[in-house]
Amino acid sequence: MLARTDARSLESIRARPLKVAFVIGTRPEAIKLFPVIHALRREPDFAPLVILTAQHRDMLDQVMAIADIAADADLDIMRPGQSLTGVTISALGALTPLIEREKPDLVVVQGDTTTAFTGALAAFYAKVPVAHIEAGLRSGKKYSPFPEEINRCLVDAMTDVFLPPTEGARQNLLKGGYPADRIHVTGNTVVDALVWIRARLETDAALRAGIEAELPPSVAGRRLILVTSHRRENFDGGIASICGGLKRLAERGDVEIVFPVHPNPNVRGPVYEILGGVDGIALVPPLNYLQFVALMMRAHLIVTDSGGVQEEAPALGVPVLVMRDTTERPEGIEAGTARLIGADGDRIVAEANALLDDPVAYRRMAQAHNPFGDGKASERITQILRAYLLERLAA
Ligand code: UD1
Ligand code: UDP
Repeated sequence: MLARTDARSLESIRARPLKVAFVIGTRPEAIKLFPVIHALRREPDFAPLVILTAQHRDMLDQVMAIADIAADADLDIMRPGQSLTGVTISALGALTPLIEREKPDLVVVQGDTTTAFTGALAAFYAKVPVAHIEAGLRSGKKYSPFPEEINRCLVDAMTDVFLPPTEGARQNLLKGGYPADRIHVTGNTVVDALVWIRARLETDAALRAGIEAELPPSVAGRRLILVTSHRRENFDGGIASICGGLKRLAERGDVEIVFPVHPNPNVRGPVYEILGGVDGIALVPPLNYLQFVALMMRAHLIVTDSGGVQEEAPALGVPVLVMRDTTERPEGIEAGTARLIGADGDRIVAEANALLDDPVAYRRMAQAHNPFGDGKASERITQILRAYLLERLAA
């Protein structure tokens, strides 16, 4: 225990900065980790090391540029139309020697991606402890989300410091038999990211004007519906059904649907084929995070199958319809800001129409409270990691 450490050994530990490696692969990992990297950078006793697998390329680079974080190592593994196995092999093959060489004091992974899984596995093989941000979320369904549900369980099995965002996630970990004294509820770092972005948008008028100018123009009298979709569970007909529903929804004539399209060929292909050129629907490339947050703040309604957007919409007070059958983020549903509606086109139209045409039902969703965090998760994580590392190094 740290309390039993004598002052001299603590001094020698503090004499060198704590080397904490962040393994980042995709857009949402970068969004949820940049506030933690910023927080560690402010602390002289930490030396953060940023490792990109670059499982995503352009979408990851967009976030890194906005957050002003340069990579210490970039494994550049993304290939167009890559398979799950391909990403796993490339990421693990490149991460293992890197982590063995760098010998960080700790590896931090986030969420449920293949990068998070292989980052934890490479650390485990090198006997480096693992901290898992967003530990403990569970849908309880093996194939939903696929492969993320099992990725997250596998990461938790290799984790030493559990950083669940909510009490519900902590309870899931306790049910899984993980040790209570290693589990710390932090709030979701995506709220920290939103706070940071909003502060930039609010304090920098020129930046705001530049972003507004690049966004699809708002059409007077039309309410904005923001859509994103990319889940593998929806590849087998789901995306086509979603697109059919959006097409019928646009026929109302009083909504403007903006859909930043994920570059995965399984998404991009059907979306452009079905919705290209449809009146009332703007298909746009993935937006950078500043642009996307600005658009979420402007949206009347968000329709999505994204994990991160399910957390951000409640934090911004925007009602969100979730195009999935299950969610490992039940808090938004329980709070009343999110509704689980599946990927059936007819249901999407019915649920969206119900909110568009019933101001009372709409207000009830828009006024529900945000269950995901207070914007201070990164500060808590910094303190938890420091305490864990000092205790470990002193042992
Ligand atoms: C991955 C994650 C998923 C996460 C999502 C966030 C896994 C198994 N899946 O899914 O959990 O929700 O990222 O978006 O880890 N592509 C580009 N440019 C990019 C990014 C992707 O062109 O910047 C295209 C490429 O053709 C790539 C494909 O999208 O091969 C799929 O990328 P991949 O990371 O394998 O899967 P996602 O569906 O993005
Ligand atoms: N996002 C973005 N630009 C977009 C669409 C989404 O910056 O065009 C952000 C969004 O705000 C959220 C994250 O990307 O923070 C979610 O990523 P995605 O839906 O790809 O992954 P998931 O969260 O489902 O894992």
